Amino acid sequence: MNNRDRWRVYKRVSVMFFLAAVALTVVQRGSIIVGAPFELERQARMQASQGEDAGAALEDKSGSYQGVKGFWKAVPHQQIKPGTTTQAPRITEDNQARVWDVTSSNCSANLNLSSQEWFKGLEDNFKQFMLYRHCRYFPMQLNHPEKCSGEIFLLMVIKSVATQHDRREVIRKTWGMERVLNGKRVKTLFLLGKPSNEAERANHQKLVEYEDYIYKDILQWDFLDSFFNLTLKETHFLKWFHTFCPSVRYVFKGDDDVFVSVENIFEFLETSNHHRNLFVGDVIFKAKPIRKKENKYHIPLALYNKTHYPPYAGGGGFLMDGSLVRRLHWAADSLELYPIDDVFLGMCLEVLQVTPVKHNAFKTFGLVKNKSSKMNREPCFFKNMIVVHKLLPSDLMHMWNLVNSDLICSQKVEIL
Ligand SMILES: *[C@@H]1O[C@H](CO)[C@@H](O)[C@H](O)[C@H]1NC(C)=O
Ligand SMILES: *[C@@H]1O[C@H](CO)[C@@H](O)[C@H](O)[C@H]1NC(C)=O
Ligand SMILES: *[C@@H]1O[C@H](CO)[C@@H](O)[C@H](O)[C@H]1NC(C)=O
Ligand SMILES: *[C@@H]1O[C@H](CO)[C@@H](O)[C@H](O)[C@H]1NC(C)=O
Ligand SMILES: *[C@@H]1O[C@H](CO)[C@@H](O)[C@H](O)[C@H]1NC(C)=O
Repeated sequence: MNNRDRWRVYKRVSVMFFLAAVALTVVQRGSIIVGAPFELERQARMQASQGEDAGAALEDKSGSYQGVKGFWKAVPHQQIKPGTTTQAPRITEDNQARVWDVTSSNCSANLNLSSQEWFKGLEDNFKQFMLYRHCRYFPMQLNHPEKCSGEIFLLMVIKSVATQHDRREVIRKTWGMERVLNGKRVKTLFLLGKPSNEAERANHQKLVEYEDYIYKDILQWDFLDSFFNLTLKETHFLKWFHTFCPSVRYVFKGDDDVFVSVENIFEFLETSNHHRNLFVGDVIFKAKPIRKKENKYHIPLALYNKTHYPPYAGGGGFLMDGSLVRRLHWAADSLELYPIDDVFLGMCLEVLQVTPVKHNAFKTFGLVKNKSSKMNREPCFFKNMIVVHKLLPSDLMHMWNLVNSDLICSQKVEIL
């Protein structure tokens, strides 16, 4: 077996597995599993052992699955992309064509830098960042201009990567469920770049497109999903929102490994009174750039030479009002990109002279540092929070079920 054969086999196996997984998911969709925390795990095991059968069962089910089958067989790669940049989705409400106007990824490295002394001293990842820092926008591979049509109260936007489909799956079944709450619409979107290595691109892109074909909730851009490109994800979302979402009241933006209480977000929004320029989260004031080279977040002086960062909210989850998001797009365009996305957003807020608000119900840096502490497993604690970092899919499902069961807490922690 040469490498290509091996790839082909791997690809086929992963496609079959995913098809089986999606088949079961589709069959079970809509039924939130209450009181069965291990359901997911059980499902996963079932799928692993019955992969073939699930695929066969799919064909026998109702006609709606025919389209699903057709996706894999007949439709060539290019045609299934909904809303590529060449199409012009029209939003009739204001008679204005709304399009993603970037159609070329052609942006070459800024080789001017390589002759400069300070550049030569940088580590490779910073060099890579600097070489492409001027490449501001990329084309869209998956778009959903229809997502923001009509009045939306809360848009939940979640940073994810191609390989983490299990996290997206659980989020769709728990806090990211699209619904109408108190008469107000809640919508969900995932933000993706393209997988950062060749093997992942080969094996996951089609799966992502299929997942999106089913759920229609993925925005994907043509830049590499790397750590330093997270800022691109931020700026692309801001531009996208500015273009497609004229009437969204609030935006929650977060990671795909957090616990979120949408009910508590609602309660917070209904009781707080600073709705204009609302930007609330786990805000850090006077953070110092990390200069130790071993640290993942360290920043060389050549990139940032001030002693403190402006106030910024931890990227795990924060809440903002729609009109501020639109102005943030403008602010972001006035700045050079910075490799750390949440700090970059803090810089944008500084341009707008908006101070983010710290709120104790946002725990994006973990609950308590001690990982074995009971606090991190205490549903009564989660019940009173807005965001808690960080939970893996099965833990999230479990916690969600506990918090939404007839949980009796001895005392109401007054946080909201
Ligand atoms: C990208 O741009 C460079 C220089 O502007 C040009 O030489 C090259 O042909 C372009 N490539 C594509 C694929 O458009
Ligand atoms: C590189 O330098 C040239 C000449 O100074 C300039 O015109 C060009 O815009 C620079 N390229 C980038 C990507 O900054
Ligand atoms: C960001 O994505 C672009 C486009 O895919 C790529 O050229 C660049 O190297 C990436 N930057 C980093 C720091 O990974
Ligand atoms: C800090 O960086 C800015 C722009 O990069 C530069 O103009 C300024 O001189 C630098 N200050 C110091 C103290 O190095
Ligand atoms: C962490 O919490 C556990 C359980 O509460 C406790 O036994 C342990 O001593 C704590 N460790 C530290 C370093 O505080």
